[in-house]
Amino acid sequence: MGDHRDFELNEAGWWSYWAQLEWVGTEGYILYSNEFHEPLFNHAGVLLPNLDPKVFVLHVEEFYSGVGLPASFMVEDSVDYHELNQTLSSKGYEKADTLSVMMLDGPLNRVNSDVRVLVADRALADVWSEVYVSAFDEDPSLLGSVKRIVSTAVGNPNVRLLLGVIGDTPCGVTALFTHNGYTGAYCVGTLRGQRRVGVATTLLSYAARYAENLNTKLILQTFTADNVEGFYKKLGFRKTYTKNVWVKHL
Ligand SMILES: CC(C)(COP(=O)(O)OP(=O)(O)OC[C@H]1O[C@@H](n2cnc3c(N)ncnc32)[C@H](O)[C@@H]1OP(=O)(O)O)[C@@H](O)C(=O)NCCC(=O)NCCS
Repeated sequence: MGDHRDFELNEAGWWSYWAQLEWVGTEGYILYSNEFHEPLFNHAGVLLPNLDPKVFVLHVEEFYSGVGLPASFMVEDSVDYHELNQTLSSKGYEKADTLSVMMLDGPLNRVNSDVRVLVADRALADVWSEVYVSAFDEDPSLLGSVKRIVSTAVGNPNVRLLLGVIGDTPCGVTALFTHNGYTGAYCVGTLRGQRRVGVATTLLSYAARYAENLNTKLILQTFTADNVEGFYKKLGFRKTYTKNVWVKHL
């Protein structure tokens, strides 16, 4: 429980580079994309629990139906959101996964000195995109879309795109998005061939210093199904709250 508005705003802010963002009043939002099909890019969420759940769900369903996409929701798993979670369950939505929202509790400074951290500028934006698509096993046909998105994001002062390089080989990525006292780490990925040598740990150590220098808290969100929560815990991240990912199988 607690006010997680700024956590949620950070997430919506970062993914609004990737998907279209529509507000439902001031406390609800809808992300949708015709290019990326996962719930991450196609879900509705709420910033505070003071919306009428039934009205909100109906509004969101009508919206997604209007754009021809399936509705999904990400809703905090807490008593404050009990009614909204219940409404979704009773309308036939199923919990497809959960998202852990985590925050770094203390200092993090574990680096592999063979890993150089570069801040991607326009010239490196395409390389960042290539590593991202490969590390996340995305459909290669999405590379053009990712490049377009990243070329827009790279110029924003709130955004920092990190590239981990070993020797001359770019092998890991992380995106940082700062807003209202929080720096969110997104797209943490390492190429399969270079995993378990500390690339992600080195990038997140950089992220921790960066967040601290801006006097912000470093946060991230991770799907339970990806099975990396334990990795983040070992680095000092603590679970702040959980969100249910509700989807409807038609
Ligand atoms: C999760 C992921 C980013 C980790 O990247 P990585 O560069 O392999 O991470 P690191 O090498 O820093 O650490 C990973 C593990 O290697 C271990 N490790 C780090 N350096 C090591 C070394 N020199 N020798 C042996 N093991 C090492 C770490 O302790 C950690 O162990 P754990 O898995 O038991 O916790 C990577 O597996 C990945 O890209 N997965 C797919 C995308 C994804 O799911 N991203 C998360 C989105 S939230």
